[in-house]
Amino acid sequence: MAKVHILDHPLIQHKLTFVRDKRTGSKEFRELVEELAMLMAYEVTRSLPLEEQIIETPVTTTRARVIAGKKLGIIPILRAGLGMVNGMLALIPAAKVGHIGLYRDPETLQPVEYYAKLPTDIAERDLIVVDPMLATGGSAVAAIDYLKREGATNIQFVCLIAAPEGVAKLTAAHPDVDIYTAAVDECLNEQAYIVPGLGDAGDRLFGTK
Ligand code: PRP
Ligand code: URA
Repeated sequence: MAKVHILDHPLIQHKLTFVRDKRTGSKEFRELVEELAMLMAYEVTRSLPLEEQIIETPVTTTRARVIAGKKLGIIPILRAGLGMVNGMLALIPAAKVGHIGLYRDPETLQPVEYYAKLPTDIAERDLIVVDPMLATGGSAVAAIDYLKREGATNIQFVCLIAAPEGVAKLTAAHPDVDIYTAAVDECLNEQAYIVPGLGDAGDRLFGTK
């Protein structure tokens, strides 16, 4: 069964407050989303396996631990997921990045796919799907459906804010995918925006609208 990890580190909660605040402009918003993604990368990689190597310090020979050659992939859901990529890469620089373009049709609220480009060895990689918002869950479920059709078997989902509706939909559709989020908010409004949320993540990142 999927686990929902609520990341309540004070730095994450502090930065999330400024991301929510409507007075925060695009430049600061982008910086905060990147910083949040970096802090969340620390949590989402917590269970990576380690192996021992023998190294020489200036004093002696010793055994020391390194990450056990895991191949990782970061998969942003366009557009807003792009805002989280550099923060993740800052801590996981060897990861490859695959892009999935989806937008939510404003009438039907269904995700519409318009682009996908993945690393060729996607099936061998442990994947971290990133998108700041998990609202109805339609976009996350569609992206993960696609990744599994392409052969991915080990996937985690990282967002900044989730709605209870999105958590329920994603965990039901993909019980093997753990969710990492800084907050689970109250509900969705009539336009399926998260309440209290942060508004439209893509528009706030890129200054559109
Ligand atoms: C936003 C957000 C998610 C999606 C979440 O993207 O970045 O991808 O909505 O909503 P859902 O859980 O109900 O599917 P949007 O469709 O606004 O596209 P954009 O990132 O290109 O602005
Ligand atoms: N997409 C967003 O960008 N914000 C929401 O609150 C819901 C979906």
